[in-house]
Amino acid sequence: MAVSIKSAREIELMREAGRLLALVHDELGKAIEPGMSTKEVDELGEKMIRGFGCVPNFLHYNGYPASICVSVNNEVVHGIPRKDRFLKEGDIVSLDAGLIYKGYHSDAARTHAVGKISPEAQKLIEVTRQSFFEGIKMAKAGYHLHDISAAIDAYVSQFGYGIVRDLVGHGIGTSLHEDPQIPNFAQKRRGVRLQAGMTLAIEPMINAGGWEVDFQKDGWTVVTRDGSLSAHYENTILVTDGEPEILTL
Ligand code: MF3
Ligand code: CO
Repeated sequence: MAVSIKSAREIELMREAGRLLALVHDELGKAIEPGMSTKEVDELGEKMIRGFGCVPNFLHYNGYPASICVSVNNEVVHGIPRKDRFLKEGDIVSLDAGLIYKGYHSDAARTHAVGKISPEAQKLIEVTRQSFFEGIKMAKAGYHLHDISAAIDAYVSQFGYGIVRDLVGHGIGTSLHEDPQIPNFAQKRRGVRLQAGMTLAIEPMINAGGWEVDFQKDGWTVVTRDGSLSAHYENTILVTDGEPEILTL
């Protein structure tokens, strides 16, 4: 497994790719409201990405038909936007988006409340978000990749939530998915030693119930097997010799 180390010039481009994607997520977060179709979310995101002169990297990726993945409630990730699928009060919606700026990719996800949601749903969103921040504490030169995985696992497990095992985080750069894979659960081995200049997409996907998921017949949408709610939180980050840098916030 070869993990690429980005040069200073590449890091500048990754920073800009990340900064622009953060703006997209901020706008999408503000726009989310009951009655909006998941297709409208996708259209708004794609318009912004293209407005920056960037390319949506998810569109046509392995045949994925949209720019933004919109996953509602029991949908974990890769929900396909639809004109006839409307967000309603009480839903939670995970938005996963990415773009290419001058050949460099960024990737980030947020889970939002639609109107007023249950305290249980709110807690799931908050724990999922915090698990990313627990993981990134370990994303320092000299630590090992699976220190990140173990930290996410240890934090999430306290709450009895299910950690999705079939999908993982990843390296990112001139491709959306590069080595290494980054599991969100503890590993037997330590994984590669982290070095300054690695850019990683850390993305815990957490279920209120069990960790098991199913892949739907549309070829994309991943859902919880037990029908429980699921949340997703992701940022593209840079490993440095000091504190890690979050590129998509
Ligand atoms: N953010 C996801 C990932 O990290 C989404 C990519 S799947 C796509 O893999 F097909 F929608 F692009
Ligand atoms: Co990703």
